[in-house]
Amino acid sequence: MRPVSGKQVSEDVPIDLALRPKHLSEFVGQQEVKENLNIAIAAAQKRGDPLDHILFCGPPGLGKTTLAHIIAVEMGVNIKVSSGPAIERPGDLAAIVTSLQSGGILFIDEIHRLSHLVEEKLYPAMEEFVFDIFLGKGPAARSLRLKLPRFTLIGATTRAALLSPPLRDRFGATYHLDFYDELAIKLILKRSAAFLKVSAMEEGLEQIAQRARGTPRVANRLLKRVRDYAQVMADGVVTKEIALEGLSKLKVDSIGLDDIDCKVLRTIIDKFGGGPVGLETIAASINEDADTIMDVYEPYLLQLGFLERTPRGRVVTKPAYEHLGLSYPETFQAQTSLWNQT
Ligand SMILES: Nc1ncnc2c1ncn2[C@@H]1O[C@H](COP(=O)(O)OP(=O)(O)OP(=O)(O)O)[C@@H](O)[C@H]1O
Ligand SMILES: [Mg+2]
Repeated sequence: MRPVSGKQVSEDVPIDLALRPKHLSEFVGQQEVKENLNIAIAAAQKRGDPLDHILFCGPPGLGKTTLAHIIAVEMGVNIKVSSGPAIERPGDLAAIVTSLQSGGILFIDEIHRLSHLVEEKLYPAMEEFVFDIFLGKGPAARSLRLKLPRFTLIGATTRAALLSPPLRDRFGATYHLDFYDELAIKLILKRSAAFLKVSAMEEGLEQIAQRARGTPRVANRLLKRVRDYAQVMADGVVTKEIALEGLSKLKVDSIGLDDIDCKVLRTIIDKFGGGPVGLETIAASINEDADTIMDVYEPYLLQLGFLERTPRGRVVTKPAYEHLGLSYPETFQAQTSLWNQT
């Protein structure tokens, strides 16, 4: 389970599912992705064809899974859900793809974690809608070609770079989800507040939106915790003051950085002179999983411009020093441009 900043805590799972928009029109933000999907869905429906295979990439909590479910609803088809690590053997994949309905959707989350063997079986399934099974061994071995129903594969990944080129090329469309702006997050919060029957003032929601790291899942999680705080410590209304008090208890700073973000930055500054330093070294220093740092924490720090990836490792930038109230060593400026060149 990933930490709270990226993933919801387990007690919130049913609520989280309920907060999920069901239709494209309810899905806030990601305008370009929505427009392209609208066109693709309308065109496929007009032709009476299944949709082309789709790949969603982007940091956790931005709506990849939500969009996969929305597509199924908009297309009026069934969706089967699995994930890269869950499909261990080719046989597991065979069981899934042979049970799909014609025109149905197969959603594979964390598709970059599919094993090589399974991935190779996926190619003909995606391209020709067939699945080859090998029976027996030695001279008596024969192969059996199963015909599959035409289906749409929707893949989701937080690590597009880890996808092998042959798999990536077999998707008809790839959509990159970006962090949401504050206005979009505020709209999502308004919708969630109405759904959860939380009475919230505009200014209260604005405070939460500022700290939501441009991520709907984080926004919803903060809203739920601030709601708890408002219910226990006040009359249940999320005002600006209550939001600020509640958020400070959660140890989320004014721009949404939590303990671990600060630990990552402080470690690079204090132990490695601001960098460059490799991700594995940072992870070992703070006793965190390198993948978690890369998937959950780093994207937002990069987006803020607080971290830079150079060929020699991660470097903390001047705005990060300023945000942490530290003075920036002036010798760094010249060096950073040098690191970027090498
Ligand atoms: N555009 C949106 N509008 C409203 N709510 C959204 C939107 N995008 C995401 N959400 C909310 O955020 C939650 C997280 O989204 P989702 O599970 O789709 O993220 P994800 O990209 O699949 O994350 P992960 O990579 O961790 O699987 C959803 O339950 C949903 O309530
Ligand atoms: Mg998901």
